[in-house]
Amino acid sequence: MEAVLKAEGIAKSYEGRRVLSDINVTLGKGETVCLLGVSGIGKTTLFNILSGLEAPDSGRVLLGGEDVTGKSGLVGYMQQSDLLLPYRTIAENAALPLILRGEKKRDAVKKASAMLADFGLEGCEKLYPAQLSGGMRQRAALLRSCLFSSTALLMDEPFSALDAITRAGMQKWFKRVAREQGLSVFLITHDINEALLLSDRIYILAGSPGKIICELPNSLPEGENPELTREFLESKIKITELVAGGGQQPNGKD
Ligand SMILES: Nc1ncnc2c1ncn2[C@@H]1O[C@H](COP(=O)(O)OP(=O)(O)OP(=O)(O)O)[C@@H](O)[C@H]1O
Ligand SMILES: [Mg+2]
Repeated sequence: MEAVLKAEGIAKSYEGRRVLSDINVTLGKGETVCLLGVSGIGKTTLFNILSGLEAPDSGRVLLGGEDVTGKSGLVGYMQQSDLLLPYRTIAENAALPLILRGEKKRDAVKKASAMLADFGLEGCEKLYPAQLSGGMRQRAALLRSCLFSSTALLMDEPFSALDAITRAGMQKWFKRVAREQGLSVFLITHDINEALLLSDRIYILAGSPGKIICELPNSLPEGENPELTREFLESKIKITELVAGGGQQPNGKD
């Protein structure tokens, strides 16, 4: 499969403490890949490096084969909090990447408005973020991220602030949109269910410093409620053990 985004040999320390060590991940075209790990393990650190918001101490990030290490604005990303601008309408917020790229504001807002329906936000163009529910704000942030780049989309715990019912609805919706739009998505989460429901492949980040301790293909049966199948539960048990026991992997050096 053609790699859209690739990280090679990434390492990062903060204040002399190694957080990430020798991270190698790839994202294929049209694929949704999840990076799964417990809180504090280094997920957002890797997100910041992949999105170019921070530079690694060593290693490099490739976008379509080109070295983009430490360069932001090339990959579309959605941070852990939605960060919509409170004093801009939903259509203006979504249109921001187009405006930053030099499109006229009126044209950009028109283009973004036309896409709102696809993201479940029909009729919301003139509303402000505070007038929307948490799920709607997340969808607006997602539309904005998609307009940043159609090549690759990075998401850091996009649904974690939502209540369980809204989250389940958003996950189903996102899976459909990602497929329909052919998105290539690198999704970071600490939620095993989310990783199993959304991804084609799962990387597990564990240990101290954080390393990719394994990569699992994910092919759950299609259907209304995959989380109620035996395969789902079996995968969940296996992954729970891996995520928790990452520090004591027999082959985990350092
Ligand atoms: N700018 C920084 N300066 C110093 N230490 C940092 C910085 N950013 C992150 N860290 C440390 O690096 C470690 C990993 O943090 P990170 O935010 O990447 O974790 P995470 O896996 O995203 O956690 P969560 O699931 O809670 O979001 C933590 O111990 C954190 O305190
Ligand atoms: Mg984080």
